[in-house]
Amino acid sequence: MCGIMGYAGKKPAAGIIIDGLKRQEYRGYDSAGIALRCDSEIVNVKVVGRVSELARKVSELPPESAGAITGIGHTRWATHGGVTETNAHPHESADGMTVLVHNGIIENSRELRSNLESKGIKFVTETDTEAACQLLALLYKDYGGDALRAMSALTAELRGAFALVIMFLDRPNEIWCARKGSPLVAAFDGGACYCASDPTALLRYTHDLFFLEEEEMVSLTPSGCKFFGFEGQKRIKKAIHLNWDSVMADKGQYEHFMRKEIGEQPDVMRLTIEAHTIVANVAMRKSLNIPRGLMDSIRRIQFVACGTSSYATLVAKNIMESLDNGIDVSAEIASEYRYRNVPGGGDTLAVFVSQSGETADTLAAARLAKTLGTHCVAITNVRGSTIDREVEHTVLSLAGPEIGVAATKTFMGQIGLLTLLVMFLLKEKGSLSAGDEARLIGGLRSLPTLQQSLLEREGEIKSLAEKYAGSKGFFFIGRRECVPLTMEGALKLKEIAYLPSEAYAAGEMKHGPIAMLDEHLTVVALVPDTDLREKTLSNVEECRARNAPTILIASEGDEGALAHADDILFVPRTEPELFPFIGLIPLQLFAYHVARTLGRDIDMPRNLAKSVTVE
Ligand code: F6R
Repeated sequence: MCGIMGYAGKKPAAGIIIDGLKRQEYRGYDSAGIALRCDSEIVNVKVVGRVSELARKVSELPPESAGAITGIGHTRWATHGGVTETNAHPHESADGMTVLVHNGIIENSRELRSNLESKGIKFVTETDTEAACQLLALLYKDYGGDALRAMSALTAELRGAFALVIMFLDRPNEIWCARKGSPLVAAFDGGACYCASDPTALLRYTHDLFFLEEEEMVSLTPSGCKFFGFEGQKRIKKAIHLNWDSVMADKGQYEHFMRKEIGEQPDVMRLTIEAHTIVANVAMRKSLNIPRGLMDSIRRIQFVACGTSSYATLVAKNIMESLDNGIDVSAEIASEYRYRNVPGGGDTLAVFVSQSGETADTLAAARLAKTLGTHCVAITNVRGSTIDREVEHTVLSLAGPEIGVAATKTFMGQIGLLTLLVMFLLKEKGSLSAGDEARLIGGLRSLPTLQQSLLEREGEIKSLAEKYAGSKGFFFIGRRECVPLTMEGALKLKEIAYLPSEAYAAGEMKHGPIAMLDEHLTVVALVPDTDLREKTLSNVEECRARNAPTILIASEGDEGALAHADDILFVPRTEPELFPFIGLIPLQLFAYHVARTLGRDIDMPRNLAKSVTVE
């Protein structure tokens, strides 16, 4: 969704803001803009399209604008109003006093707008944001230029979600920000203040970041940040140190972030295992902070998430069931969970999974669970994110910054952590046998090497992708531990290759979808050598009988599988529950190379946003 970058310091602001916007391009956007505070005016430049085009336009500004030392920038992902230069942010009030950028949705913008129009204020855009901008200018005037009081009054009027970043014409070296529902992070590096939607935009300057809380405001000047509640009360805030390397957020030698991130997965696994290996280890207990004995009273476990993260929760559910069927475990989609009459309370443990920690539906689901008295745990990749701050117990996944819009290494980090969490919880409950514990820990430890060996066979997967990129569509099928993978494989293809792709539990094909099959639809079947191998192969044969070309992902040494496929990829053997850690990599590489063959914009697929902050 929209990306914001602001700078109040002593250096030329334009380059810093453009760089910050570029680092947030992956959030998804369709237009961009920047406002620079020059000697006596604010210069506003906007484009439809890419930040590089904005940079080109900014480079043509006269030297006095280029030298501006305060400014705000924005990448817009359109919600209200078409993709036009006029609708792009920053927006200006009719009197030119306020200039503002916004991430989120102002739900009462129509009401505000007609109210303001009845006072004679002329609107120039179709956006919800302009209402906030015009209203703020009016309030600023009413409060005699008192920015804090005007901001408080504004936030009291607005409904919905917003991260607002504002410059006032008569406050030359100052930026104001307010946050409710949409993420915003501020920083001070000793000589300048910054703000952004995403921490990765600020890591070049400092790793000590102030994540704005719900209903919090901040004023930024070259001498520091001052924080306030929405009622105007001063707040003292401690910076959170984010231990990410800014190099991790660079593409390096790779053509795409997604490919780089796929390749980082063995390291993600290594780190995850090192941090949490011994099942009852101190790190997991410390992060979870779950009182000893709690698991004795837990009857129900709910894993809750959206998108790819929800497929990670399906992996966790399967592993939990395979180890102990005496616990009521479910994997829930957050956007449904929040509107259902879900069970909760002291006998329920809910685990909320979100790589960004900012997904609106997952946050709302966690808030609901809290009100029910459910014990809540969050798993997120971003320290300081909203979910990390709102849910009492957080375990951080260790994937490092992920820039490609399609989740890859964060999914790996999630399933690694969730597997260890499941084992930890069952051990607490006394239902993890020593045999299973040793077997799975051994299996997990061997994964990074096996994953590396798969990455080294990228050429094979690339050839398959090139061969099948012309298919009309794809079906991904598999059973039990493979079902979440079928969903993830199909989603990756939809996201980055824009190809129709369906995921089905293999046994379901004959209940309807098989009607679609012909020689133009490719079936990708996940058939590890487990007790379900024969069953899945029978389903594969049903597809082949309808002329569908079939690619099999099978276990190394399973020569018998060759007879059931047009093409086959043999993958290393592992414990049955751990197959998702192996099967995932070929599916990611397959989607990547299909998309590359089709010339898609892999790191920034159309219509998508990395951090989904609206419901
Ligand atoms: C797919 C993808 C999305 C996210 C979903 C939830 O590649 O990235 O489906 O998984 O938007 O995001 P988080 O995990 O940030 O809550």
